[in-house]
Amino acid sequence: MGQGSITRRYRFCAAHRLHTDHLSAEENRVVFGKCNNPNGHGHNYVVLVTIGGPGAARAGQTMDLDALDRVVAERIVSRFDHRDLNQDPEFAVRTTTGENLVLLIWDLLVTQVPGGQLKKVAVIETRDNYFEYTGSASVAARS
Ligand code: NI
Repeated sequence: MGQGSITRRYRFCAAHRLHTDHLSAEENRVVFGKCNNPNGHGHNYVVLVTIGGPGAARAGQTMDLDALDRVVAERIVSRFDHRDLNQDPEFAVRTTTGENLVLLIWDLLVTQVPGGQLKKVAVIETRDNYFEYTGSASVAARS
């Protein structure tokens, strides 16, 4: 059976610094390069949220988009926009890489989107960097 989906685009601006206390200062510089600059740097992040899938097919439609917009505004944009990601409690023990950011956004949204309709979260960090996560649903749930 085919599955439809819809992707909504959101934006926030935030600062971060790639750094981990698990490495020495020199190792941090080697691993993260200029992203380890002590003064940090900013990105205009784009978040792509895709909903759809089996839950949507049974319900006859995907989640109301106004409701999705509210969830993303409350859970994601207001949390990160014009903030320093390194100061977010969830990043106290994790580096603010795009991989970790997309995982955190997934975790913040997955309980808010009904019926397992959250299919994919993607984060565009720079012109050339794109991260995505499709969750941990079983193969059966996606077929
Ligand atoms: Ni960066």
